[in-house]
Amino acid sequence: MQGVTFIGADTGRWSVQRITAWCGATLPVVSAVERIEGAGDQPFGLPAAPATGRAWALHGFRSNERYTHAGEKRQLVAAQEGLDRVGATCAALIPIRKSAAWWALAQDERREIFEAQSRHIAIGLEYLPAIARRLYHCRDLGEPFDFLTWFEFAPTEAPRFDGLLARLRSSPEWAWVERDVEVRLSSAAVRSPAGG
Ligand code: HEM
Repeated sequence: MQGVTFIGADTGRWSVQRITAWCGATLPVVSAVERIEGAGDQPFGLPAAPATGRAWALHGFRSNERYTHAGEKRQLVAAQEGLDRVGATCAALIPIRKSAAWWALAQDERREIFEAQSRHIAIGLEYLPAIARRLYHCRDLGEPFDFLTWFEFAPTEAPRFDGLLARLRSSPEWAWVERDVEVRLSSAAVRSPAGG
């Protein structure tokens, strides 16, 4: 399993700019977030020692796609870029939970809302490759959220990212969202060891 743990604490790679609860309960305020990808015998990448002043930990895992059609997948693969790009010093962790009514729908009904009505993939494609993204699932782990969504981009892209969020949040899909907490982050640009 390719798991992940996001730790909200006093210290970590990503400094918290702001935490906004768009619906549902917020997350406790922290100064920093660390994203720890799992590997080997630590599938959720948990560190041996807890981070200083740790306030919360959210777990998820990477999984197969549920809704993406073959043509959409080709477009995504052709356009998207990976995480950890130089210059992508802004990030957002947006944990999301959908309602029981959403999960009671059949797969084809969910796809209808997700893409035919809301155009989630078509809209998202407009923002590639500037926004790098990764989707983690966590509903089956009994976590407080169903998904942990992660995005990385350059500071100059922040206004466009805000526009993307506004478009998705005003789409029919978001009527099925009951918790949406936006954690906006920035990291210092990587400097050479000599400090130059
Ligand atoms: C950067 C552009 C984006 C692209 C290209 C994109 C693309 C996608 C795709 C292809 C899926 C479907 C995965 C599957 O087939 O299972 C997906 C799911 C999802 N995306 Fe996005 N997305 C983008 C931005 C966002 C943003 C900004 C958010 C949060 C505000 C978001 C939240 C989600 C969630 C929660 C799911 C899971 C939906 C579900 O399974 O019910 N996405 N996205």
